[in-house]
Amino acid sequence: MAVIEVQDLTRTFRTRRGRVVTALDHVGFQVERGEVLGLLGPNGAGKTTLSRILTTLLVPTSGTARVSGFDVVDRPREVRRRIGLVLGGDRGLYGRLTARQNLRYWAALQGLDARTARRRTEEVMELLGLDGRGDDRVETFSRGMVQRVHLARALLGEPDVLVMDEPTNGMDPHAGAGFRELVRTLRGGGTTVVLTTHDMQEAQALCSRVALIDHGRILRIGSTTELLAGIRTPRTLTAVGVPPETAARIAALAGSATTDAEGNLTARPADDESLSQALLLLAQARAESISVAAPGLAEVYRTVIENREFAL
Ligand SMILES: Nc1ncnc2c1ncn2[C@@H]1O[C@H](COP(=O)(O)OP(=O)(O)OP(=O)(O)O)[C@@H](O)[C@H]1O
Ligand SMILES: [Mg+2]
Repeated sequence: MAVIEVQDLTRTFRTRRGRVVTALDHVGFQVERGEVLGLLGPNGAGKTTLSRILTTLLVPTSGTARVSGFDVVDRPREVRRRIGLVLGGDRGLYGRLTARQNLRYWAALQGLDARTARRRTEEVMELLGLDGRGDDRVETFSRGMVQRVHLARALLGEPDVLVMDEPTNGMDPHAGAGFRELVRTLRGGGTTVVLTTHDMQEAQALCSRVALIDHGRILRIGSTTELLAGIRTPRTLTAVGVPPETAARIAALAGSATTDAEGNLTARPADDESLSQALLLLAQARAESISVAAPGLAEVYRTVIENREFAL
Protein backbone atom coordinates (compact mmCIF):
# COMPACT_ATOMS: atom_id res chain seq x y z
CA MET A 1 0.00 0.00 0.00
CA ALA A 2 1.15 3.53 -0.76
CA VAL A 3 2.17 5.55 2.29
CA ILE A 4 1.48 8.83 0.51
CA GLU A 5 -1.39 9.21 -1.94
CA VAL A 6 -1.94 12.54 -3.63
CA GLN A 7 -4.83 13.07 -6.04
CA ASP A 8 -5.68 16.07 -8.16
CA LEU A 9 -4.17 18.43 -5.60
CA THR A 10 -4.52 22.14 -6.30
CA ARG A 11 -3.59 25.11 -4.15
CA THR A 12 -4.07 28.72 -5.12
CA PHE A 13 -3.06 31.86 -3.25
CA ARG A 14 -4.51 35.31 -3.58
CA THR A 15 -1.79 37.92 -3.41
CA ARG A 16 -2.32 41.25 -1.64
CA ARG A 17 -2.93 42.87 -5.00
CA GLY A 18 -5.74 40.42 -5.67
CA ARG A 19 -3.87 38.32 -8.22
CA VAL A 20 -4.46 34.56 -8.04
CA VAL A 21 -1.31 32.41 -8.01
CA THR A 22 -1.66 28.69 -8.71
CA ALA A 23 1.10 27.12 -6.59
CA LEU A 24 -0.06 23.54 -7.23
CA ASP A 25 -2.03 22.62 -10.30
CA HIS A 26 -3.81 19.22 -10.25
CA VAL A 27 -0.89 17.24 -8.86
CA GLY A 28 -1.15 13.48 -8.38
CA PHE A 29 1.34 10.78 -7.32
CA GLN A 30 1.91 7.97 -4.84
CA VAL A 31 4.88 7.04 -2.69
CA GLU A 32 5.49 3.49 -1.44
CA ARG A 33 6.90 2.64 1.98
CA GLY A 34 10.69 3.05 2.17
CA GLU A 35 10.92 5.18 -0.95
CA VAL A 36 12.84 8.45 -1.11
CA LEU A 37 10.96 10.75 -3.47
CA GLY A 38 12.87 13.84 -4.60
CA LEU A 39 11.07 17.08 -5.45
CA LEU A 40 13.08 19.08 -7.96
CA GLY A 41 12.18 22.30 -9.68
CA PRO A 42 12.97 25.99 -9.97
CA ASN A 43 12.15 28.64 -7.37
CA GLY A 44 8.42 29.09 -7.08
CA ALA A 45 7.58 25.70 -8.61
CA GLY A 46 5.37 24.66 -5.67
CA LYS A 47 7.66 22.29 -3.74
CA THR A 48 7.30 23.97 -0.34
CA THR A 49 3.55 24.33 -0.83
CA LEU A 50 3.33 20.58 -1.41
CA SER A 51 5.50 19.85 1.66
CA ARG A 52 3.31 22.08 3.81
CA ILE A 53 0.11 20.40 2.63
CA LEU A 54 1.50 16.91 3.31
CA THR A 55 2.43 17.95 6.84
CA THR A 56 -0.97 19.61 7.52
CA LEU A 57 0.44 23.14 7.81
CA LEU A 58 -1.61 24.27 4.83
CA VAL A 59 -4.92 23.02 3.40
CA PRO A 60 -5.38 22.38 -0.30
CA THR A 61 -7.83 24.40 -2.37
CA SER A 62 -9.07 21.16 -3.93
CA GLY A 63 -8.02 17.53 -4.31
CA THR A 64 -6.82 15.13 -1.64
CA ALA A 65 -3.65 13.99 0.09
CA ARG A 66 -3.37 11.00 2.43
CA VAL A 67 -0.55 9.90 4.69
CA SER A 68 -0.67 6.28 5.91
CA GLY A 69 -4.29 6.26 4.78
CA PHE A 70 -5.28 9.40 6.73
CA ASP A 71 -6.58 12.45 4.91
CA VAL A 72 -4.52 15.55 5.73
CA VAL A 73 -7.63 17.73 6.01
CA ASP A 74 -10.03 15.37 7.81
CA ARG A 75 -7.52 13.61 10.09
CA PRO A 76 -4.68 16.08 10.68
CA ARG A 77 -3.83 14.72 14.14
CA GLU A 78 -3.35 11.18 12.84
CA VAL A 79 -1.19 12.55 10.05
CA ARG A 80 0.95 14.65 12.39
CA ARG A 81 1.61 11.65 14.59
CA ARG A 82 3.14 9.83 11.60
CA ILE A 83 4.99 12.57 9.79
CA GLY A 84 8.09 14.66 10.54
CA LEU A 85 8.97 17.94 8.86
CA VAL A 86 12.46 19.33 8.36
CA LEU A 87 12.63 22.88 7.04
CA GLY A 88 15.71 24.71 5.92
CA GLY A 89 16.55 27.91 7.77
CA ASP A 90 16.22 29.09 11.32
CA ARG A 91 12.54 28.93 12.11
CA GLY A 92 11.10 26.71 14.79
CA LEU A 93 13.95 26.44 17.27
CA TYR A 94 14.55 28.49 20.42
CA GLY A 95 17.99 30.05 20.25
CA ARG A 96 18.17 30.75 23.97
CA LEU A 97 17.53 27.11 24.84
CA THR A 98 20.09 24.35 24.55
CA ALA A 99 19.77 21.62 21.93
CA ARG A 100 18.63 19.18 24.62
CA GLN A 101 16.04 21.61 26.01
CA ASN A 102 14.69 22.31 22.52
CA LEU A 103 14.30 18.62 21.79
CA ARG A 104 12.64 17.81 25.13
CA TYR A 105 10.27 20.71 24.62
CA TRP A 106 9.28 19.49 21.16
CA ALA A 107 8.96 15.92 22.39
CA ALA A 108 6.50 17.10 25.06
CA LEU A 109 4.57 19.10 22.43
CA GLN A 110 4.35 15.98 20.31
CA GLY A 111 2.68 14.23 23.23
CA LEU A 112 5.51 11.91 24.29
CA ASP A 113 5.46 11.15 28.03
CA ALA A 114 8.36 12.50 30.09
CA ARG A 115 10.36 9.26 30.14
CA THR A 116 9.97 8.59 26.44
CA ALA A 117 10.79 12.25 25.71
CA ARG A 118 14.08 11.98 27.62
CA ARG A 119 14.98 8.67 26.01
CA ARG A 120 14.16 9.79 22.46
CA THR A 121 16.00 13.09 22.97
CA GLU A 122 19.20 11.23 23.86
CA GLU A 123 18.70 8.74 21.00
CA VAL A 124 18.22 11.34 18.28
CA MET A 125 21.11 13.47 19.59
CA GLU A 126 23.39 10.48 19.36
CA LEU A 127 22.09 9.55 15.91
CA LEU A 128 22.90 13.06 14.64
CA GLY A 129 26.19 13.50 16.42
CA LEU A 130 24.78 16.23 18.66
CA ASP A 131 25.51 14.53 21.97
CA GLY A 132 28.71 16.53 22.52
CA ARG A 133 26.83 19.85 22.12
CA GLY A 134 23.57 18.99 23.88
CA ASP A 135 24.03 21.59 26.62
CA ASP A 136 25.02 24.45 24.31
CA ARG A 137 22.51 27.08 23.30
CA VAL A 138 21.22 26.65 19.76
CA GLU A 139 22.00 30.33 19.00
CA THR A 140 25.71 29.46 19.24
CA PHE A 141 25.41 26.74 16.57
CA SER A 142 26.55 26.96 12.96
CA ARG A 143 23.95 26.59 10.21
CA GLY A 144 24.82 22.96 9.64
CA MET A 145 24.49 22.19 13.34
CA VAL A 146 21.12 23.94 13.43
CA GLN A 147 20.02 21.77 10.51
CA ARG A 148 20.95 18.70 12.51
CA VAL A 149 18.79 19.89 15.42
CA HIS A 150 15.90 20.35 12.96
CA LEU A 151 16.40 16.82 11.73
CA ALA A 152 16.67 15.48 15.29
CA ARG A 153 13.41 17.20 16.17
CA ALA A 154 11.64 15.63 13.20
CA LEU A 155 12.83 12.17 14.24
CA LEU A 156 11.66 12.38 17.89
CA GLY A 157 8.30 10.75 17.26
CA GLU A 158 9.76 7.97 15.06
CA PRO A 159 7.73 9.09 12.04
CA ASP A 160 6.70 6.82 9.15
CA VAL A 161 7.26 9.71 6.76
CA LEU A 162 9.86 12.47 6.77
CA VAL A 163 9.24 15.54 4.65
CA MET A 164 12.41 17.55 4.18
CA ASP A 165 12.53 20.93 2.46
CA GLU A 166 16.12 21.75 1.47
CA PRO A 167 17.57 20.09 4.58
CA THR A 168 21.21 20.27 3.47
CA ASN A 169 21.03 24.00 2.81
CA GLY A 170 24.03 25.45 4.69
CA MET A 171 25.68 22.15 5.52
CA ASP A 172 29.36 21.74 4.69
CA PRO A 173 30.36 18.76 2.48
CA HIS A 174 31.20 16.61 5.50
CA ALA A 175 27.86 17.31 7.21
CA GLY A 176 26.12 16.76 3.85
CA ALA A 177 27.73 13.34 3.49
CA GLY A 178 26.68 12.47 7.06
CA PHE A 179 23.16 13.56 6.23
CA ARG A 180 23.02 11.35 3.13
CA GLU A 181 24.25 8.40 5.16
CA LEU A 182 21.51 9.03 7.69
CA VAL A 183 18.81 9.17 5.00
CA ARG A 184 20.03 5.83 3.67
CA THR A 185 19.85 4.33 7.16
CA LEU A 186 16.33 5.67 7.71
CA ARG A 187 15.26 4.41 4.31
CA GLY A 188 16.69 0.98 5.15
CA GLY A 189 14.57 1.03 8.31
CA GLY A 190 11.42 1.60 6.26
CA THR A 191 11.03 5.36 6.69
CA THR A 192 9.48 7.05 3.66
CA VAL A 193 11.11 10.34 2.68
CA VAL A 194 10.00 13.28 0.55
CA LEU A 195 13.09 15.38 -0.09
CA THR A 196 13.21 18.78 -1.75
CA THR A 197 16.65 19.76 -2.96
CA HIS A 198 18.31 21.94 -5.59
CA ASP A 199 21.33 19.62 -5.57
CA MET A 200 21.08 17.22 -8.51
CA GLN A 201 23.89 14.98 -7.30
CA GLU A 202 22.26 14.66 -3.91
CA ALA A 203 18.93 13.81 -5.54
CA GLN A 204 20.51 11.26 -7.82
CA ALA A 205 22.43 9.66 -4.95
CA LEU A 206 19.50 9.44 -2.52
CA CYS A 207 16.21 9.28 -4.34
CA SER A 208 14.50 6.15 -5.63
CA ARG A 209 12.37 8.46 -7.79
CA VAL A 210 12.22 12.16 -8.46
CA ALA A 211 9.38 14.44 -9.50
CA LEU A 212 10.30 17.40 -11.71
CA ILE A 213 7.93 20.21 -10.83
CA ASP A 214 7.41 23.49 -12.65
CA HIS A 215 4.57 26.02 -12.42
CA GLY A 216 2.76 23.77 -9.93
CA ARG A 217 2.72 20.75 -12.23
CA ILE A 218 4.61 17.48 -12.18
CA LEU A 219 6.29 17.40 -15.58
CA ARG A 220 8.07 14.05 -15.05
CA ILE A 221 8.23 11.46 -12.29
CA GLY A 222 10.40 8.36 -12.14
CA SER A 223 13.82 6.96 -11.30
CA THR A 224 16.87 8.63 -12.87
CA THR A 225 17.14 5.69 -15.28
CA GLU A 226 13.49 5.98 -16.29
CA LEU A 227 13.74 9.73 -16.79
CA LEU A 228 16.90 9.37 -18.86
CA ALA A 229 15.20 6.81 -21.09
CA GLY A 230 12.44 9.27 -21.84
CA ILE A 231 14.66 11.94 -23.37
CA ARG A 232 17.58 12.05 -25.74
CA THR A 233 20.46 13.33 -23.65
CA PRO A 234 23.94 13.30 -25.10
CA ARG A 235 27.00 12.33 -23.10
CA THR A 236 29.39 15.06 -22.06
CA LEU A 237 32.88 14.98 -23.53
CA THR A 238 35.64 16.97 -21.84
CA ALA A 239 39.35 17.37 -22.55
CA VAL A 240 42.18 19.77 -21.80
CA GLY A 241 45.00 21.09 -23.99
CA VAL A 242 42.86 21.09 -27.12
CA PRO A 243 44.40 23.11 -30.01
CA PRO A 244 42.01 25.70 -31.57
CA GLU A 245 41.81 23.92 -34.94
CA THR A 246 40.80 20.63 -33.25
CA ALA A 247 38.27 22.49 -31.12
CA ALA A 248 36.78 24.06 -34.26
CA ARG A 249 36.46 20.67 -36.02
CA ILE A 250 34.80 19.14 -32.96
CA ALA A 251 32.42 22.11 -32.71
CA ALA A 252 31.48 21.53 -36.36
CA LEU A 253 30.61 17.88 -35.82
CA ALA A 254 29.23 18.02 -32.28
CA GLY A 255 26.96 21.00 -32.73
CA SER A 256 27.43 22.24 -29.17
CA ALA A 257 31.03 22.61 -28.05
CA THR A 258 32.80 25.28 -26.06
CA THR A 259 36.52 25.79 -25.57
CA ASP A 260 38.14 28.43 -23.39
CA ALA A 261 41.44 30.24 -23.96
CA GLU A 262 43.40 27.49 -22.13
CA GLY A 263 42.06 24.83 -24.46
CA ASN A 264 39.55 23.24 -22.04
CA LEU A 265 36.87 21.68 -24.16
CA THR A 266 33.30 20.66 -23.27
CA ALA A 267 31.15 19.12 -25.99
CA ARG A 268 27.95 17.11 -26.22
CA PRO A 269 28.10 15.06 -29.41
CA ALA A 270 24.57 14.08 -30.33
CA ASP A 271 25.26 10.46 -31.36
CA ASP A 272 27.83 7.67 -31.07
CA GLU A 273 29.26 8.41 -34.51
CA SER A 274 30.13 12.05 -33.79
CA LEU A 275 31.38 11.09 -30.31
CA SER A 276 33.86 8.57 -31.73
CA GLN A 277 35.03 11.04 -34.39
CA ALA A 278 35.57 13.69 -31.72
CA LEU A 279 37.52 11.19 -29.57
CA LEU A 280 39.74 10.35 -32.54
CA LEU A 281 40.46 14.03 -33.22
CA LEU A 282 41.33 14.59 -29.56
CA ALA A 283 43.68 11.59 -29.51
CA GLN A 284 45.42 12.75 -32.72
CA ALA A 285 45.85 16.25 -31.25
CA ARG A 286 47.34 14.69 -28.09
CA ALA A 287 44.76 16.32 -25.87
CA GLU A 288 44.84 15.26 -22.24
CA SER A 289 42.34 14.19 -19.58
CA ILE A 290 39.86 13.07 -22.21
CA SER A 291 36.71 11.87 -20.48
CA VAL A 292 33.16 10.94 -21.39
CA ALA A 293 30.51 11.39 -18.69
CA ALA A 294 27.17 9.62 -18.75
CA PRO A 295 24.19 11.95 -18.51
CA GLY A 296 22.47 12.16 -15.15
CA LEU A 297 19.65 13.94 -13.42
CA ALA A 298 21.27 17.31 -14.13
CA GLU A 299 20.88 16.72 -17.88
CA VAL A 300 17.28 15.56 -17.41
CA TYR A 301 16.56 18.70 -15.42
CA ARG A 302 18.18 20.91 -18.04
CA THR A 303 16.18 19.28 -20.80
CA VAL A 304 12.83 19.28 -19.02
CA ILE A 305 12.94 22.60 -17.17
CA GLU A 306 14.93 24.51 -19.80
CA ASN A 307 16.58 27.28 -17.82
CA ARG A 308 13.33 28.83 -16.79
CA GLU A 309 14.99 31.14 -14.27
CA PHE A 310 17.11 32.75 -16.95
CA ALA A 311 14.24 33.00 -19.38
CA LEU A 312 12.05 35.12 -17.08
N1 LIG B 1 1.48 32.46 1.40
C1 LIG B 1 1.56 32.73 0.10
N2 LIG B 1 0.92 33.78 -0.44
C2 LIG B 1 0.99 34.05 -1.76
N3 LIG B 1 1.70 33.31 -2.64
C3 LIG B 1 2.36 32.24 -2.17
C4 LIG B 1 2.34 31.89 -0.78
N4 LIG B 1 3.11 30.77 -0.60
C5 LIG B 1 3.58 30.47 -1.82
N5 LIG B 1 3.15 31.33 -2.76
C6 LIG B 1 3.44 31.29 -4.20
O1 LIG B 1 3.23 29.97 -4.65
C7 LIG B 1 4.21 29.61 -5.61
C8 LIG B 1 4.95 28.35 -5.14
O2 LIG B 1 5.74 28.68 -4.01
P1 LIG B 1 6.62 27.58 -3.24
O3 LIG B 1 7.16 28.24 -2.03
O4 LIG B 1 5.79 26.38 -3.04
O5 LIG B 1 7.77 27.30 -4.29
P2 LIG B 1 9.10 26.40 -4.13
O6 LIG B 1 9.07 25.40 -5.22
O7 LIG B 1 9.20 25.91 -2.74
O8 LIG B 1 10.26 27.45 -4.44
P3 LIG B 1 11.78 27.56 -3.82
O9 LIG B 1 12.63 26.63 -4.63
O10 LIG B 1 12.13 28.99 -4.07
O11 LIG B 1 11.71 27.23 -2.37
C9 LIG B 1 5.10 30.82 -5.79
O12 LIG B 1 4.64 31.56 -6.88
C10 LIG B 1 4.89 31.59 -4.50
O13 LIG B 1 5.10 32.96 -4.69
MG1 LIG C 1 10.61 26.15 -1.24
